[in-house]
Amino acid sequence: MWKFSNPIKHPIPEAHWPTAEEVAGSLLFQPIRIGSLTLESRTWVPAMVPWRATEEGFVTEANLDWYRRFAQGQPGALVVEATGVRDIPSGPLLRIGHDRFIPGLKKLVETVRDASGGHTKLFIQIIDFLSVKRRPEPAKFFERFLRITWHHRHSIAELTKDSNWLGVDDARVRSFLKDAADEVIDLVLSPHELESLRFGYRERVTDMHLPHVRELPLVLPEIFADAAQRARECGFDGVELHYAHAYTMAGFLSALNTRDDGYGGPRENRVRLPLEVYQAVRERVGDDYVVGVRFLGDEVIEGGNRIDDAVYFGVEFAQAGFDFLSISKGGKFEDAQQPKVGQAVYPYTGQSGYECMPTTLSDEVGPFGRSVPLVAAIKRAVNAAGFMTPVVATGGIATFEQAERRSLIPIGS
Ligand SMILES: Cc1cc2nc3c(=O)[nH]c(=O)nc-3n(C[C@H](O)[C@H](O)[C@H](O)COP(=O)(O)O)c2cc1C
Repeated sequence: MWKFSNPIKHPIPEAHWPTAEEVAGSLLFQPIRIGSLTLESRTWVPAMVPWRATEEGFVTEANLDWYRRFAQGQPGALVVEATGVRDIPSGPLLRIGHDRFIPGLKKLVETVRDASGGHTKLFIQIIDFLSVKRRPEPAKFFERFLRITWHHRHSIAELTKDSNWLGVDDARVRSFLKDAADEVIDLVLSPHELESLRFGYRERVTDMHLPHVRELPLVLPEIFADAAQRARECGFDGVELHYAHAYTMAGFLSALNTRDDGYGGPRENRVRLPLEVYQAVRERVGDDYVVGVRFLGDEVIEGGNRIDDAVYFGVEFAQAGFDFLSISKGGKFEDAQQPKVGQAVYPYTGQSGYECMPTTLSDEVGPFGRSVPLVAAIKRAVNAAGFMTPVVATGGIATFEQAERRSLIPIGS
């Protein structure tokens, strides 16, 4: 995991239960309107994946236990973890990409209703992600995975000053690379190929040579709309579209998105698919259903979005009609640490991962409410544009006092 070079240990402040008087006088425990619903309080449990689903994406007893415990605390809102919108394997992550997932998710809804005595509104976060493969054994990579091209032959010919390399077969190139030193490999492989070798193959929204990536704008609106319709059928009070962290929709929003099909480049293009997905979802679930969005106040990666991008997106989302904006930070692949061979790169291991889930070993700013300035900037801009869309903050908000000072209320891990 990434660490500050001279970390400062910040003690966790002692938490106490607020008294009845404190509760009555607080903003935290006041109701708030979210679209067509009223939350009884502004306490909000954001989406957190506990990796407790079956390998096939079904709800387990362990999932029910996890959500039952949160529900017993009767938060105003509870958001179920990132749940896959497609009908594809995704390990022990919940899925909502087919009707067969409905019975299990209905049970989850009932469990939260019972455990919270009906006091908690329940949303589900829905997510799309692209393919990420495990870091390969180098020999296997060169023998099987790497697609040999003219560029490889050309680079080897230049390096060895031997033009015969231009005419050799693939097997010869593979064998050369398998035995080559790292510095040679650095010169022969493209940055994308080097990443596949050292971190594992990972798709990006900019991989326009892949038909299924090129076609994302054609297919995603309906896939998200289908998932949202199922969420409504299961009895969830609303859906949260996952446009944050390292996943497909965040990839479209990212300043690193250079797609040349009108869905990349300037901000207006990068927000286009996220808005089209929203429209498709809204048309499917109707105006009386809560549709919120989670996105990043800052990507915390080189060349990535900063707060001015987030402010622009926030206003666009509010104007489009999203019922709430939930702000996260970081959580990207671009600065993730190198995984061991056989493991997949994990987007919460770099500095952007720290900023996503700050811990007490921090810098002088400390972990508590670290993302609140971003949230405040987005909220100010949304309000200034004439919208009262609620904005949710998360990240190191650990006590009643900390939450109360910030007026919108996150309780994550
Ligand atoms: C175990 C775990 C799983 C998480 N899973 C998700 C997720 O599915 N979707 C999401 O948007 N954020 C996810 N997050 C981020 C949290 O929602 C939250 O933004 C983050 O933990 C910061 O809040 P905290 O400091 O109160 O923990 C996860 C965090 C943790 C600790």
